[in-house]
Amino acid sequence: MAVGIFDSGLGGLTVLGAIRQRMPHLPLVYLGDNAHAPYGTRTADDIFALTCAAVERLWGEGCDLVVLACNTASAVALKRMQETWVPHDKRVLGVFVPLIEALTERQWGDNSPPVEVAVKHVALFATPATVASRAFQRELAFRAVGVDVEGQPCGGVVDAIEQGDEILAEALVRSHVEALLRRMPHPEAAVLGCTHFPLMEAAFQSALGPGVRVLSQPALVAASLEDYLTRRPEFRGAGTQSRFLTTGDPARVSGKATQFLRQATAFEAA
Ligand code: DGL
Repeated sequence: MAVGIFDSGLGGLTVLGAIRQRMPHLPLVYLGDNAHAPYGTRTADDIFALTCAAVERLWGEGCDLVVLACNTASAVALKRMQETWVPHDKRVLGVFVPLIEALTERQWGDNSPPVEVAVKHVALFATPATVASRAFQRELAFRAVGVDVEGQPCGGVVDAIEQGDEILAEALVRSHVEALLRRMPHPEAAVLGCTHFPLMEAAFQSALGPGVRVLSQPALVAASLEDYLTRRPEFRGAGTQSRFLTTGDPARVSGKATQFLRQATAFEAA
């Protein structure tokens, strides 16, 4: 009954925290590929290979369903994985679609044609690879028409978070928000399209001002996962143990995770 949660590093813990709040009895196996983070400046082939290796590791833990709690992997690798690589008895889900369903006020899994929606100007904050992939715009176009999306490649923020440098991360967030507001002065909504960014949500909201609705993924992904598992209980997997795995140095990663989540989190070597 275990579900796998994958991220390049610490960011996916924001998603894991929300899933744990919603489904406290569901065993979760987390894998952070900290040795190779950040993914946001890597090539598509590289991200595909690293993500496949991580997902296979989680299948080995009895997780038939793996959530890519990483926008970069979801944007750059997921489609190719689903089309060419994932076997029929396994599932790999991303974090984009629940966010877009919330933005466009759709029910989970509503596949009806695109319609006009209330929101018209959306700021997207994500890694350089996610912004360059245009996956957000592609998924949005399936559901909504007439929405202007301005993407800001947020170089350096993931690195600063992985290094545990909150002051640098906050300064970078402010400068990325300023850069975006120069191009789109009045967004109605801002999407935090990187699972590391909820750790900096207060900094984003304060730089954007109170009039901008900030959408972050963890709670949305948790709600859509619960809905998915209700419809497809066979994908709960055979694993029974929650674990935290990392390809990086477990002591270092545990320290950073504990610092950011403000809760003791002990990682083991993957
Ligand atoms: N948390 C990952 C994401 O959601 C960060 C990617 C990276 O390692 O650059 O995109």
